[in-house]
Amino acid sequence: MPDAESIVPYRPGLEGVTAGISGVSDIVAEENKLLYRGYDIRELAENSEFEEVAYLVLYGELPNATQLSQFKAELVANREVPEHVYQALRALPKEAAQNMMSVLQMGVAALGATEPLARDNSHEANLKKAIKLTGQMATLVANGYRAVSGKATVPGDPNLGHAANFLYMLHGEKPNDLFAKVMNLTFILYAEHGYNASTFTARVVASTLAGLHSAVAAAIGALHGNLHGGANEAVMDDMLSIGTSDRAEGWVRERLASKHRIMGFGHREYKTGDTRAAILGTYVDQLAELTGKSDLAKMQRIMRETVLNEKGLHPNVDFPAAPIYYMMDIPIPLYTPIFAAARITGWSAHVIEQHDGNRLIRPRSDYNGPAPRPYVPIAQR
Ligand code: COA
Repeated sequence: MPDAESIVPYRPGLEGVTAGISGVSDIVAEENKLLYRGYDIRELAENSEFEEVAYLVLYGELPNATQLSQFKAELVANREVPEHVYQALRALPKEAAQNMMSVLQMGVAALGATEPLARDNSHEANLKKAIKLTGQMATLVANGYRAVSGKATVPGDPNLGHAANFLYMLHGEKPNDLFAKVMNLTFILYAEHGYNASTFTARVVASTLAGLHSAVAAAIGALHGNLHGGANEAVMDDMLSIGTSDRAEGWVRERLASKHRIMGFGHREYKTGDTRAAILGTYVDQLAELTGKSDLAKMQRIMRETVLNEKGLHPNVDFPAAPIYYMMDIPIPLYTPIFAAARITGWSAHVIEQHDGNRLIRPRSDYNGPAPRPYVPIAQR
């Protein structure tokens, strides 16, 4: 428990205020470090696949070989999304494909509507539902997009890992090795991140004893905004509107001069760099080389240098993620849903932690409205 002296009073945005205790991940901002269950994200990114990290985040320990193969089999067995969910998505007008976070939110709510364990918040039931949702959400993003766009869905390939299978369902063909590797990496880097806005939302909802699906649907809503997960789509929109790298420096200077925020830069916790951006950033050049989009990599370099020089801000993970997804030919409205399909693991781990030791989250607010006053009948107003 924090001692009384370390408790920070109210601050806008709850900046620096401790709002809970968790063993899922640790952000050591002054060292630009992120640890999932005690393991440095750099080592996980270097050595593991998403399934291993998902197991770690959910169970608290790295799996041994048998546990990992069982876990993978469970994910594969739970990948398919029931037809009634696709039917609901197909009923939407096609323009809904431009707003896939809402579609994903609807899909998760629809899965919750028929989940037999929906209201069972026991540890075992929550783990079962978390694994199921981890399997289903990537499918919901890829095939949900297909369904809303009026295209046939593509059944998963049980021989492909989670990230590669996502690309397979989206594109209808197996990804090359670099695409599969980088997609796996983004799933790992997006899996968990402490008490961010969407995770806190999930915990608030879970604390009312609402079930996992309700908490996740709410978290998806919180992730949607540009100050949180929506930033990866906004970065790509900005890069496309800049057009070519020779315009990047002027664009950044003009935006900063007119007091606009540059999407993909800055972070509430990290003030000297986001290690996830550094890890992912190295792949922007590799993908640019493979896809012949070297000007995008150059534009990123110029934007990074200009924002750092002008404002002292470093890129966050969403900055390199945007061109990476673009170069993999992923439609922009899917960037934030992909973030959600990875973060389902972190959200679930936090919901499990919340339910296992629950206390309703119900903070207070200080009142600054009018002083007490008598009711005025309508004829006298
Ligand atoms: N572009 C330009 N200026 C930025 C900025 C950005 N992306 N992020 C922060 N700043 C500036 C603020 O305007 C403020 O400047 P000022 O002191 O001159 O007014 C200063 O940096 C501190 O910003 P503050 O709003 O206190 O930081 P925060 O902790 O509340 O913000 C974010 C964190 C993430 C909301 C913020 O950095 C941001 O809006 N980034 C862009 C969106 C984004 O990439 N989100 C994904 C996060 S993973």
